[in-house]
Amino acid sequence: MTLTDEAATGPCPLVAGNWKMNGLKAALGEALAVDKALAAEPEPVGADVMICPPATLVMVMAELVGKGAVKVGAQDCHTGESGAHTGDLSPEMLADAGAAAVIVGHSERRADHGETDRLVREKAAAAHRAGLQAIICVGETIGQRQADLTLEVVARQIAGSLPNGVTPQNTIIAYEPVWAIGTGLTPLAADVADVHAMIRDRLNERFGAAGSAMRILYGGSVKAANAAELMAVANVDGALVGGASLKAQDFLGIIEVYRAAGAA
Ligand code: 13P
Repeated sequence: MTLTDEAATGPCPLVAGNWKMNGLKAALGEALAVDKALAAEPEPVGADVMICPPATLVMVMAELVGKGAVKVGAQDCHTGESGAHTGDLSPEMLADAGAAAVIVGHSERRADHGETDRLVREKAAAAHRAGLQAIICVGETIGQRQADLTLEVVARQIAGSLPNGVTPQNTIIAYEPVWAIGTGLTPLAADVADVHAMIRDRLNERFGAAGSAMRILYGGSVKAANAAELMAVANVDGALVGGASLKAQDFLGIIEVYRAAGAA
């Protein structure tokens, strides 16, 4: 699909699994099962699929499945290319290990590690430098939602967390309300629509036509049972899935919904 086609039809959906701090070597079987199931499907694929395992599994997973329909991503990166940063991984290292993308600014990192919009922006720019897609996460806390600050907070995160040089090819946005992550709660479709429309407007204002072709994922308690309703919301171009991406069968159930929508 060319960029022109995408502008006309909307971007191809992406279903990305974020394994977070889950997965020993034995879990690679789940990625293999997803890969096998997708390889057996007829074209057109209708949706892109990615798994972001812990860094320990990136290289081996990329070698196992990365040449097929399942792309492999990482969950975080440092801003630098190399140097004295014990325990950190540069985006160049992740690319070298076979990652195609890296999540930056997930709310768990913003909360656990005090990551600011500025740091997230620098990480996204570093990901671009290394040739990785940056999956930039934004989302409000329950307190912010209750105070009616959702649109304001997310707009600020979008303005602050996206570097210049963003394109539909190198950047994916993920809207993940913090209170919906791992709780089984999801916003009303109308609320998702409001936030995604605002994000789309901001992308269009800043990046022009490219903003329309950029994928905006929804994340937070996505399951096969609610995937169709979420996918039907305007400006929802896929899902970032946590818990339900850990088991191939659950993840494939979500992928099927997006593939059907993408192929339609
Ligand atoms: P859950 O799907 O487990 O709610 O997690 C969402 C998430 O944080 C993905 O990045």
